[in-house]
Amino acid sequence: MRAPPQHRPLRPGVLAERFHAVRNATRALAAPLSAEDCAIQSMPDASPVKWHLAHTTWFFETFILGRHEPQRAPFHPTFKYLFNSYYNAIGDRHPRPYRGLLSRPALAEVLAYRDHVEARILALLAEGALPADLLSLVELGLHHEQQHQELILTDLKHLLSCNPLRPAYQKTWPLTPVKARARSWVRFAEGARQVGHEGEGFAFDNESPRHTVWVNEFEIASHPVTHGDFARFIEDSGYRRPDLWLAAGWDQVVARGWEAPLYWERAGDSWQTFTLRGMVPIEPNTPVCHITFYEAEAFARWAGARLPTEAEWEVAAADAPREGNFVESGALHPLAMREAPPEGAIAQIFGDVWEWTRSDYAPYPRFRTAPGAVGEYNGKFMANQYVLRGGSCATPASHIRATYRNFFPADARWQFSGLRLARDA
Ligand SMILES: [Fe+2]
Repeated sequence: MRAPPQHRPLRPGVLAERFHAVRNATRALAAPLSAEDCAIQSMPDASPVKWHLAHTTWFFETFILGRHEPQRAPFHPTFKYLFNSYYNAIGDRHPRPYRGLLSRPALAEVLAYRDHVEARILALLAEGALPADLLSLVELGLHHEQQHQELILTDLKHLLSCNPLRPAYQKTWPLTPVKARARSWVRFAEGARQVGHEGEGFAFDNESPRHTVWVNEFEIASHPVTHGDFARFIEDSGYRRPDLWLAAGWDQVVARGWEAPLYWERAGDSWQTFTLRGMVPIEPNTPVCHITFYEAEAFARWAGARLPTEAEWEVAAADAPREGNFVESGALHPLAMREAPPEGAIAQIFGDVWEWTRSDYAPYPRFRTAPGAVGEYNGKFMANQYVLRGGSCATPASHIRATYRNFFPADARWQFSGLRLARDA
């Protein structure tokens, strides 16, 4: 994980303000939780909230304080092992699935760790003491922390869903049902297109270099597939027809007994789903979420369409306003479109749900993994994952852009992952 080379760091004053805001936002996410909520983990892919709180702090202690003032003692000598990214760094005794066994340090000590490192970083920023390369790393650390903010919510949602009490993270439900909006298709002409990041703004390394791709004429849906659309797929035996599924996907359907997206439960003739506000009936006009790549692919085939490639998605999103239902809305769930989009417009392409693409997660042409990267980087994940685009209702608004590439294995479904249909024109 690193910024591309032409990136220009923010000024220390601006960076200090952003540091303050991002760190406080993380703390606010944990505020409604008990120490017990924060300590445990529900599956190997997820991490405890306490671990996220500490790990995002480890980043700043290691890459900023550790480099700028190596003579200073760390807050605690073992935290660099407990909270680094290499979950196997201290041997098989502490792989990632066992992060939830760390009853010590206590949550209070982790919060004190956060305070300690924050105070020192803010002091260095105020003194103007950090050189340009470390300012860039502070900014990178904030984008890294925003990634973990989303994971705090998705990991927590999975954890709470395992509890028979079905606890709500937040109780109020601001959503009001709205009418269905008919899906329309938006056409894009064939041609050579530029995709990927370029310029002085922040982006992760995997978004570069910007390069040319040939895109055939295609159409993309005006809005994402909804819960109602997906319920019709289920009613039409979508989960019982191997002809709709990729072979590897059908193997998963059989092995895991899938018959609906994650968190869905039958409620009479209809469905309800677990949300961060507890169990609610599915709202048919909201974008469907918590589906795997395989489910997205099968749905698209059933619908007589296909998933977009990531290049098609990026071409479609390039001119769309970067607004939508992000974590700041407080909904913590995809929302329905309030108004029909104008003719020919793409709606809800940012926020609500990450949209699976048909593109596997691979390096862009001439991508190079930098030597001495900051301990974790996107390049090492470029196998057996598919690209998702656009951000979700758990993504901070300032974290997303049209070139942003998220990636997950084809069978992952605890993220707010959905889809938008595409087809050949
Ligand atoms: Fe991380």
